[in-house]
Amino acid sequence: MVETADTGTVRVWDPLVRIGHWVLVAAFAAAYLTEGEPQWLHGYAGYAIAAVVVLRLVWGVVGPRHARFSDFVTGPRRVIGYLRGLATGRAERHLGHSPAGGAMTVALLVALAATALSGMATLAVEDGAGPLAGLVTVQSLPDWAAEAEHAEHGAFGEGEAEAGEALEEVHEIAANATLALIALHVAGVIVASLAHRETLVRAMITGAKRRPRETAPTPD
Ligand code: HEM
Ligand code: HEM
Repeated sequence: MVETADTGTVRVWDPLVRIGHWVLVAAFAAAYLTEGEPQWLHGYAGYAIAAVVVLRLVWGVVGPRHARFSDFVTGPRRVIGYLRGLATGRAERHLGHSPAGGAMTVALLVALAATALSGMATLAVEDGAGPLAGLVTVQSLPDWAAEAEHAEHGAFGEGEAEAGEALEEVHEIAANATLALIALHVAGVIVASLAHRETLVRAMITGAKRRPRETAPTPD
């Protein structure tokens, strides 16, 4: 935590967290809006997301204080306590992620990883292309892939097409679940910004947040 005395702010988000965040926003929009076509653009956007997620996971262990999972991953009781505080106007301010922000961070990273991986698996099975080509094949898939297709269309088709379509469906569900989390995430950012009277989006751009009041112990 670097204090900048003249402005009364504290540097909270390091460049990797900030740049990673805005790359995620741009790449998710690109991947979602292209819906798989053109494949090169869709794939590169997806790989950019996968790369940020992997980097962020490593950074969550070796990065600076507020980037670390140990700084913001808490149990469900603290998350519920914080949300209850938000509802009653008594949520305590956190310099890094709040307990709810921390839980959302983990949920988003898991959802993004699942979306990118299921996309790569779809590409591997449908076209034999991408980083998982040869690793994920029809033979390597469990029966649910064929069964999911059966339940959807009431008939079994050819192996590859069938498993590929089932995986594509998993991929689509993962993408939409991620989108739902993002909607909740943005709503959470707005509510927390109002509750603590600070612009959290600006902090994700500049990295700086208002310094906690000297009198109270720092709730970060
Ligand atoms: C334009 C819409 C978005 C806005 C305004 C926004 C804003 C923010 C803000 C302010 C934070 C910090 C929260 C805190 O203070 O605890 C944050 C964190 C985060 N956001 Fe977003 N976000 C947006 C879209 C997204 C999207 C689309 C994704 C994923 C694709 C995403 C993933 C994340 C992640 C993973 C974190 C945790 C950051 C970290 O610790 O590395 N956000 N976001
Ligand atoms: C992580 C971000 C990603 C998002 C948000 C995303 C989103 C989507 C969406 C919404 C669709 C349309 C699904 C449908 O209508 O059936 C789709 C299709 C597809 N995606 Fe992704 N995707 C992502 C990453 C990837 C990656 C990394 C790959 C592979 C390298 C990939 C490969 C595919 C393929 C092969 C299709 C089917 C295209 C077709 O047959 O028309 N996706 N994706």
